[in-house]
Amino acid sequence: MKITGGIPLNGTVKTQGAKNAALPVMAACLLLKGGTLTLDNVPDLYDINTMLELIRALGVDVVFRDSRAVFTVPDDLKWEVSEAHARKMRASSIVLGPLLANCGRVSLPLPGGCSIGSRPIDIHLKGLKQMGAEIDIKDGVVHASVKGRLRGRRLYLDFPSVGATENLMMAASLAQGETIIENIAREPEIDNLAAVLRCMGVPVDLEGTGGVRIQGIGKAHSGHERVIPDRIEACTYILAGVMTNGHIKVEDLVPSHIDAILAKMEEAGAKFSVRKNIVEVFPSKRRLHPVSIKTLPYPGFPTDAQPQMAAALSISRGVSTIEESVFQARFLYAQELNRMGADIQIAKDVAVIRGVDKLHGAAVKATDLRAGAALIMAGLAAEGETTVDDMVHVWRGYEAIDKKLASLGAKVELV
Ligand code: UD1
Repeated sequence: MKITGGIPLNGTVKTQGAKNAALPVMAACLLLKGGTLTLDNVPDLYDINTMLELIRALGVDVVFRDSRAVFTVPDDLKWEVSEAHARKMRASSIVLGPLLANCGRVSLPLPGGCSIGSRPIDIHLKGLKQMGAEIDIKDGVVHASVKGRLRGRRLYLDFPSVGATENLMMAASLAQGETIIENIAREPEIDNLAAVLRCMGVPVDLEGTGGVRIQGIGKAHSGHERVIPDRIEACTYILAGVMTNGHIKVEDLVPSHIDAILAKMEEAGAKFSVRKNIVEVFPSKRRLHPVSIKTLPYPGFPTDAQPQMAAALSISRGVSTIEESVFQARFLYAQELNRMGADIQIAKDVAVIRGVDKLHGAAVKATDLRAGAALIMAGLAAEGETTVDDMVHVWRGYEAIDKKLASLGAKVELV
């Protein structure tokens, strides 16, 4: 993407459906034995299409049109995930729980690591074992099976992993008896999954402190639900508005989902207002103040907005710090931002960001999805021309980002 920087963004942009909510709720169709799951507000993204292909290959008929995905599931689902599908996307591990619960067995090539750090699935596997699964890992492939149905029980997660919470909630949906999972992730995507499971007839109670209670049912039924708005996409545009000193409205989001980010923006002196499902960013003559941030599980500051926040702080007035506590190695974007004139030093899990007056255009590479977003934001604010290479990462999570930015007056071009 070629970006001519220095133009304040201006206008209104709508938030897409959330990638990280859509992926698990799509996998929930694998709980059906005959029947249909219909999902609205599904974003058109590389990762979504990878998941659609994976689900299709298991025998499900999928129609995806105008943000609606309809999954018609046969009685006899396949339970072997191909290497090509599994390796393409880390989130493929999300099919383990529903396939095992529904088919009694599953084989899934391990998704492997990615550029933001090693990404084990030990917490997912431990929970499934505790529910009665036998698990064997041979030549990088997880083979799991269970005699009869999985057995509901009390589980405690060693870390509130988002993926493990989702996998185990789906596994529990068809288990025998009640499952209580403690120390779960409380990201909004978990509530979305709970709503989808409920629409398929599974009693899910998320009211308890820090846990979820699920009554396993014998058979899930057809259902229809909606994917929540993408809080990370929304934040990316909001911060791009702040960074370019623009005047923009980001619509169709749930502001309470981004409280941690809005709190830090307020602390940094950004000018914005919040109304129902809209955040409006106003131009400001003042540069941001420095802030200290630590990424944490929800409702803490999300690791997925960390690179974008670093980009915004790179032109603040003073020294900010960001501590990354969720993933290792999530600072690969720093050296790319530094090529654009930023001053970011990494010491273990902490980025020390010394604000500079301005960034300048450069040729940079998206090292991962959110890094790519941060570099695009930096390019919009920088003086001169920036090219962001390896855009493939960005298409995993941002629908039509070129068109959306152009509609806000940015000068961007795909080359
Ligand atoms: C999800 C999001 C991702 C986001 C992350 C944290 C999706 C598709 N992806 O990823 O965008 O950055 O939540 O908000 O929803 N861990 C283990 N063992 C496990 C599972 C996780 O050690 O079995 C560790 C991970 O290595 C990582 C941390 O726990 O350090 C958080 O991972 P997790 O919450 O599981 O993230 P994902 O579900 O992979």
